[in-house]
Amino acid sequence: MREFVERLPKVELHLHIEGTLEPELMFELAKRNQVAIPFSSPEAVRQAYQFTNLQSFLDIYYQGANVLLHEQDFFDLTWHYLLRCQVDRVVHTEIFFDPQTHTQRGVAFDTVIRGINRALKQAEEQLGISSVLIMCFLRHLDEASAFATLQQALPYRGEIIGVGLDSSELGHPPEKFANVFAKALELGFKTVAHAGEEGPASNIHDAINLLGVTRVDHGVRCVDDAQLVQMLAQTQMPLTVCPLSNIKLKVFKQMSEHNIVELLNHGLCVTINSDDPAYFGGYMNDNFWSVVEAFPLTKAQIAQFTFNAIAASFIDADTKARLA
Ligand code: ADE
Ligand code: ZN
Repeated sequence: MREFVERLPKVELHLHIEGTLEPELMFELAKRNQVAIPFSSPEAVRQAYQFTNLQSFLDIYYQGANVLLHEQDFFDLTWHYLLRCQVDRVVHTEIFFDPQTHTQRGVAFDTVIRGINRALKQAEEQLGISSVLIMCFLRHLDEASAFATLQQALPYRGEIIGVGLDSSELGHPPEKFANVFAKALELGFKTVAHAGEEGPASNIHDAINLLGVTRVDHGVRCVDDAQLVQMLAQTQMPLTVCPLSNIKLKVFKQMSEHNIVELLNHGLCVTINSDDPAYFGGYMNDNFWSVVEAFPLTKAQIAQFTFNAIAASFIDADTKARLA
C-alpha cells in the first residue's frame, strides 16, 4: 500500500510556500542575509515546533519568514518545495503566498513574486510540474491592508489566478473581507478561503456566500452542521483538507479521530494536502500515508482523493480532461 501511495500522481491545492521553509534552509538564509534567529541549530528549530493551536504555530511561522529577504531567497524556497513535489509525484500544485508577511517587513511585493515565479517556470520546464499561484490576505490585518495588497497584485494579474484568506480564523470571520473579495471577483480572480479549521461551521457558509469561494480550505468543522454537509456534498464544493496539519494544531487529537474519511464516504469532494509541510512533519506522501495508515481504505478510495483534487483544481478544462 505504501508503494501505491508513493506512486499515485497527486495534485496539491493547499500549500503555503512560506510553510515549506525547512530549518536547514532557514539557517542557510539567516547566515546569508545576516538575520538573527533565536535558535542554535536546525534540530533546535524542530524541537520548538510543539504547537497547541493555530495561533501558537502562526507566531513561530511568521518569525521564520524573517530570513526571506531577496528574490533569490524566494526562488530557493520555492525550488526546494518543487524538488520535493517531484519525489512525492505531485504533478500539479496550487501555491499560496502571503505578500503581507513580507511587505510589512519592507520586502517588495515584486521581490517575492519574481523569486517564486522564476522557480515555478523552471519546474514547468525541467520537472514537468505545472502550478498556479494564489495570493492570500492575512485575516488578522485590516481590510485596508488587504485592498492595498490587491492593488499591488494588479501588474501580476496574469500570474496570480486567485486570492485566498489565511492566518488567525478566530475573531476574523469572512465578512471582514467581503468588500475586498467582491473587488477581487470583479477583477476576475478566483477566490478561496480558510474556513472551518478552528472556526465555526458558519465561517464555511459565509466563505461561500459572502466571499464567493470555489473551494474551502480545511472546512473540517462542517460536521457541526448537518445541513451544511449535505449542501457541500450536493454542490461538490471542494474541501482542501490537511491531515497532518490538523493533528499538529490539535484540531483533532489523533488521526483515527479525523473526519476526512467520514466526509469522503458522505460523497464530499475532499482532497489531501500538506499546508505547511516543514512545520507539520510531512509533505504529500506523508499526508496520504497518515490517512491510509489510520483508516481501512481501498485503492479506489485513495485514488479518489487525486480525482477530487483534479476536479477541484484551477487547471484549464483540456488539461483536466487529460489528467482524469
Ligand atoms: N497560514 C499558514 N498555514 C495556515 C493555516 N493552517 N491556517 C491558517 N493560516 C495559515
Ligand atoms: Zn493553510
